[in-house]
Amino acid sequence: MPAFTASAPAKIILFGEHAVVYGRPAIAVPVQQVQARAVVIPDPLAPRGRVWIQAPEINLDCAVGELPEENPLRKLIQLLQEHFQIDHLPACILRVSSTIPVAAGLGSGAAISVACLRALSAFLGAPLPVEHVSDLAYEIEKIYHGTPSGIDNTVVAYDRPVYFVHGQPIEFLSVGQPLTLVIGDSGRRSPTSEPVGALRQAWLANSVPYEELFDRVGEIARSARANLETGSLLHLGNLMDENHTLLVQMGVSSPELDHLVAAAHTAGALGAKLSGGGWGGNMIALVEPELAEQVSAALLQSGATHTLITQVRP
Ligand code: PMV
Repeated sequence: MPAFTASAPAKIILFGEHAVVYGRPAIAVPVQQVQARAVVIPDPLAPRGRVWIQAPEINLDCAVGELPEENPLRKLIQLLQEHFQIDHLPACILRVSSTIPVAAGLGSGAAISVACLRALSAFLGAPLPVEHVSDLAYEIEKIYHGTPSGIDNTVVAYDRPVYFVHGQPIEFLSVGQPLTLVIGDSGRRSPTSEPVGALRQAWLANSVPYEELFDRVGEIARSARANLETGSLLHLGNLMDENHTLLVQMGVSSPELDHLVAAAHTAGALGAKLSGGGWGGNMIALVEPELAEQVSAALLQSGATHTLITQVRP
């Protein structure tokens, strides 16, 4: 019997994380070097409707019904059943794997959801259109952190650079010239829900200074969009630096991330910032292509556990 396979890329946020949760624009791009993958194998001899999940990286090897109610994979199967108005899926094995580090600001949760939704809907004989994949993945994002903006599921499902404003039609971006980025992993894992939740508490207690920070980030994202389209790299680097300073003021950076951002500058990066939820996870540096290896080596020397060099192409 044929297996049904699908994959989905990681993502980085170039500008606007956190402020995007509060209605400001943000810019994100897919990262192809690391991917989530789902394989569905029909299992006609298994009991009716049994979906067996195998995800060795997170030590899962059980029937979906044995997972806690709030487990994202269990929720994903429920959402699919509701979407297709069926009581159960035909019996199958769902194998999930990923090379995207978890809780690292690279959208691993969204990528796993997107890969699973694509593989399972193909198995059902009705591959979901991309907008439904994105919408269903958004519902699952809510489990990871209660108030997602929707940027992760959008950029991962559409697999294109996006200019994203919550609740508004998606706008795709074309870059005026290739961007070379070095991604550095601080090695610290931080579930997105934690900095997002802490920022919300701080905003609820005293919204005025945070609204000002979000407004400034929104202006940066708008200005970055224009510079991306014209390909003005130096200006983009400066905007990244300004965005990082505002993220520090929001309280979502960490000493490790700040240290890596400083190391990237010393090694010649045009700009650098944390990317994603913060408190850990990854930072990104914009570089001239010929300096990419040098910046990557400097990040590794300064404590990054991994680096990736990626390009955003016109
Ligand atoms: O940490 P990540 O990769 O899930 O990025 C989340 C981005 C935030 O703006 C912090 C949250 C959101 O929902 O947009």
